[in-house]
Amino acid sequence: MSYGKMIHRAALGAAVCAALLQAPLFPAAVSAAETPQQEITDTTGTPDAAAAETPAVIDHSAEYKPVVNEFLKEGEGQPASETVPKTAPKYTGADREAEKELLKLNKQYAKEKAAARKARAAAEKEKAEVREKKQASRATFDLTLDVNNYKQQTMQVNGSAVTFRAYEGLPYAAKPYAPEYQKLNLYVPDAYFHGGSVNGYTAETAPIFLPNEVGGYMPGDAATPSETSRHGGANAVLRALSRGYVVAAPAIRGRTLQDANGYYVGKAPALIVDYKAAVRYVRFLRDKDLLHAGDTDRIIASGTSAGGALAALLGATGNSRDYEGYLKDIGAAKERDDIFAVQAYCPITNLDNADMAYEWMFNGIPMVNGSTLTEQQKKASAKLKESFATYLNDLNLKDEKGNVLNVAADGTGLFKEYIEGKYIEAAQTALDNGTSLGSPAWLTVSGGKVIFMDTVKYANAVKRLKSVPAFDSFDLSSGENSEFGDAETDRRHFTWYSLVESGELNLPDPETEKAEDEKAALAWRLAEGKPQERLALRKARIEKEKKQEALPTFQHVATPQVIHMMNPMYYIGTPDARTAPYWRIRHGVLDRDTALAIPAILALKLENEGSQVDFKAVWGYGHDGDYDLDQLFDWVDASIQDKVQKDAEAEAAEEAAKEAGHDRQAKDDIPVASQKGI
Ligand code: DHB
Repeated sequence: MSYGKMIHRAALGAAVCAALLQAPLFPAAVSAAETPQQEITDTTGTPDAAAAETPAVIDHSAEYKPVVNEFLKEGEGQPASETVPKTAPKYTGADREAEKELLKLNKQYAKEKAAARKARAAAEKEKAEVREKKQASRATFDLTLDVNNYKQQTMQVNGSAVTFRAYEGLPYAAKPYAPEYQKLNLYVPDAYFHGGSVNGYTAETAPIFLPNEVGGYMPGDAATPSETSRHGGANAVLRALSRGYVVAAPAIRGRTLQDANGYYVGKAPALIVDYKAAVRYVRFLRDKDLLHAGDTDRIIASGTSAGGALAALLGATGNSRDYEGYLKDIGAAKERDDIFAVQAYCPITNLDNADMAYEWMFNGIPMVNGSTLTEQQKKASAKLKESFATYLNDLNLKDEKGNVLNVAADGTGLFKEYIEGKYIEAAQTALDNGTSLGSPAWLTVSGGKVIFMDTVKYANAVKRLKSVPAFDSFDLSSGENSEFGDAETDRRHFTWYSLVESGELNLPDPETEKAEDEKAALAWRLAEGKPQERLALRKARIEKEKKQEALPTFQHVATPQVIHMMNPMYYIGTPDARTAPYWRIRHGVLDRDTALAIPAILALKLENEGSQVDFKAVWGYGHDGDYDLDQLFDWVDASIQDKVQKDAEAEAAEEAAKEAGHDRQAKDDIPVASQKGI
């Protein structure tokens, strides 16, 4: 085999792989039969190479070589119809005509494609311009704060008075799309205005608690302090104040918001853009001496469910440039937006992979409301469960001992044991605290020790809350479908899988597509030296591509960029973002709004990339948050201590290194003669 041919083949393989990898997002754009030509030079016959090269009609009969695999005897390994005849075909006049026509066709198609792309871009631009014009008249706000415009308030926490200054309704974006939401409340312990300290913190060192009240990806109100809460006692805002924290509580845009023109203004990624703008605003106020207290290197985000996902996203994407355009558009302050710590309760996160994780846990489990799954859903469940293994294994997550936490296609493996360990740990903690576990069929307790968990029995006990797929519904009915809409579309898909399965666009099933692409690539290769055959193949291919390109997929599925910006997993440990160093993640044992695998994957990824992570399942709770506020703030205090100590150690080490450097330098400065003792 000639070297050129080997390259051709390797490149073809690579190109097919690349095409398949891309397939989930850009299926219409990829054609296995025409991909090789981009990377290789031995491409005389491939369509676009033919289009690119100028014209001399080549007589392939002279250089014709059969396709061979040196590991097989001739004729083996290929169906008879695919074996190449030994004798080179003769070129006829019709062949030459076909060759010329192929060149022409390719050129013309390339032109048509470019023109279509341009037209599409222009149409999109025009639509955006119309929208921008309509929205340009929106009100603008000053990012400032009248330090004297506050309310002094006193509330009770555990029988003690907590006095603080309340600055409420401060716009954190100069050009907001929803001014009623893009504002925040600021609360500062009164002691800091009198040189005092609270819980060991001063005006300079006080942490800044940044809770969000987002739920269901709906608009979230700005939190306010309260002496009562769902779980009893003061709420998180008041508790934070009582412990000496400054509180900055932003309201956040959500998926249902529309402006006066009817445009949606709170679809993804609006919520993270707002949370970041709030962080930047707090830094801005502190820099301008408008905020009297708070250490902006100690900002702690907190939220539950969609709000937990939001807190995690903020913690993972610090200062990433991806959001810059959006932040500029709403007139956010020019500041950093990285934070110190994250509290995420039952985060509904990693949405584009959560369907697979859900089926990994709940495949074959009945719905809690008694409804039944359709045959299509049952099939999808099995498929998603199987795909979870591929997704998870690609992450290469490791436990603290360095074991790689994989699963097999049937769902078993070390990762499953890790998850079971989390439930077992939750049960053990409850038992050790004197809580009765009852006698759940899925747990084995012996001699006061929880020793075994049966995942299938667990899933059957809690049952599945959500249908299939749990997040990217085929019928676009989920809250997440609505989150992934855009200014003019209420609901879209955010996985290629659900878009295809939904049948909305009559897209071919990816596996059929893959098989067809491979077949087309082979047919193309086998037609080498047969211009008439190639012409027919090329025509068929172009027809197919044109049909695919005409599909308005962008109206049905969110853009890859937005899907990326909504998922913390894509940012953790990348040079593009500064990930928060401290994380506390909680997921109720009875929670099945998302599978425990989802927060677990987040926690492991964070740990593997160097963050400090306290991740636990919690006995007795379902989909809930803020049930352990004292422990939460104890953890924040301890994390701050840990950071202070680490910084001191780092500084000492740096000093020591400098000293050593000086010593070496000093030695170097001594004349050689005296070093030798002369
Ligand atoms: C929430 C719950 C869900 O089940 C979900 O899919 C999205 C958000 C929530 O409670 O915020």
